[in-house]
Amino acid sequence: MFVFISIVLIFVYIFSTVIKPKKYPPGPRWYPFFGCFGLINSRMKQHGSQWKVLSEMAKEFSTKVLGLKLGNQLVVVVYGEKNIRQVTTEKEFDARPDSFFLKLRTFGKRVGITFVDGPLWREHRPFTMKHLRKQGFGKPPMEQDIQAQLNNILDVLGKSNGSSISIRTPMSIALVNIIWKYVAGEHIEENKLRQFLQFSSARSKAFTLAGGYLDQWPWLRFIFPNWTGYNIIKNMNKEILDIIEDAIWRHHSTVEGNDYIYSFLKEIYDNKDTYTEDQLKGVCLDILIAASNTGSSALDFAFICLLRHPNVQNKVYEEISRVLGDDTPSWSDNGRLIYTSAFLSEVHRLCTVAPFLGGRRALTDIEMEGYLIPKGTTILVSLGDLHQDETLWDEPNTFKPERFIDENGALKTPANLYPFGLGRRRCPGEPLGRCFIFIMLVGIVQKYRLQCNGPPPSAESVIGLLAEPIQFTAQFVKRL
Ligand code: HEM
Repeated sequence: MFVFISIVLIFVYIFSTVIKPKKYPPGPRWYPFFGCFGLINSRMKQHGSQWKVLSEMAKEFSTKVLGLKLGNQLVVVVYGEKNIRQVTTEKEFDARPDSFFLKLRTFGKRVGITFVDGPLWREHRPFTMKHLRKQGFGKPPMEQDIQAQLNNILDVLGKSNGSSISIRTPMSIALVNIIWKYVAGEHIEENKLRQFLQFSSARSKAFTLAGGYLDQWPWLRFIFPNWTGYNIIKNMNKEILDIIEDAIWRHHSTVEGNDYIYSFLKEIYDNKDTYTEDQLKGVCLDILIAASNTGSSALDFAFICLLRHPNVQNKVYEEISRVLGDDTPSWSDNGRLIYTSAFLSEVHRLCTVAPFLGGRRALTDIEMEGYLIPKGTTILVSLGDLHQDETLWDEPNTFKPERFIDENGALKTPANLYPFGLGRRRCPGEPLGRCFIFIMLVGIVQKYRLQCNGPPPSAESVIGLLAEPIQFTAQFVKRL
């Protein structure tokens, strides 16, 4: 009898896991244990990325709110300007998912800024930004730091003598070194930084925001540490912690200074709540990861667009040489370099580095488009689809910088374009990201013509946690 009741209960339990909650958004059917995981994975080869699979699925179900279950986790994907605005502006969506994968990123603890919420996030996001600003973040000294890094990159290009090269890694090193100066008052030793950048890029390609095997079934890491990607995260964490712990140790043992780590240690010495060494490591890790691939990917996408559209490259160069001559570019030139700024907006639109915003967690039951999103659901926000929505953009698949210039030749404030997100969780690194991309692009095109040996690189990207261009090389030929 006991065995019979147990079997019945197991069946009832299994059956209950495939029943959708009332008014749950439309989506594919659920299977025991896996939900829609198997279906999504089986379509990955066809579409190339999870982001594209989900985008096609939303079209299949004619919905702007796609309801899924991955393993045992409810996941809703949100599309369209109105819904994206709701998620990014209403407080009920401010929280981040509390998953195994995300905690693994921060050495098993819920610390830092990017994937925490509530009082910890409300305290530490403003604290971090206040102390980075004190060091020059978002101010004229930051521009000078970018210009100094531009000179290093121009040296690299000069030494290449027009042979085919990739400047992705030097770009990442330049951006990380700028932000790390405000965080730790120093540059990172180059070999260590290169190693970390490699793991960071591998991790971004190996995982997806909608969760992977590791997220759904964490125990798989003991059996398949390579296949699940566990070893990539472990190796990246080792490299990154090495850099961070070394910097903190040096701050403990030297005289006082003003950078972010010193400011944080002061709070630890004063026994302030939530100021712990783990939290300090978490914030440093968030900043290093956020800066490691984003800026260099956006710039690589920009170079690919210049290579694929030689007439656009000519127009960008013509404007830069007419407006700036030989002057070093600065951020304030973006109002004068109309076509160049429109070009960059078009790159952000067509090659969105973050096709999904960072995941959210519903803090209450929430209604959207007449559906019910239950409390605790993970919410993914598709920025990439918004940027290619044919109801918002004329010929969305065509590269047309002119769409951002009005009939009087002035730059249009781009509506529906949010490469850095929007709302309270909008990217706090935006002032650095925008300024870096602009000064680097203008400074390089001003002095070098980009060309390639053979066909131009593909405009396709590798989409995992973020979108990265497929590796390519180009010749940077000095302009006479
Ligand atoms: C081209 C460069 C960059 C792009 C396109 C970019 C884009 C984004 C996006 C889309 C988000 C998610 C916003 C959301 O979930 O709603 C984000 C978050 C974040 N970014 Fe950036 N980012 C860039 C560079 C940087 C840099 C250089 C830093 C370093 C200071 C940075 C720090 C962060 C942090 C800490 C968050 C989490 C914010 C939070 O959850 O409150 N980002 N970024």
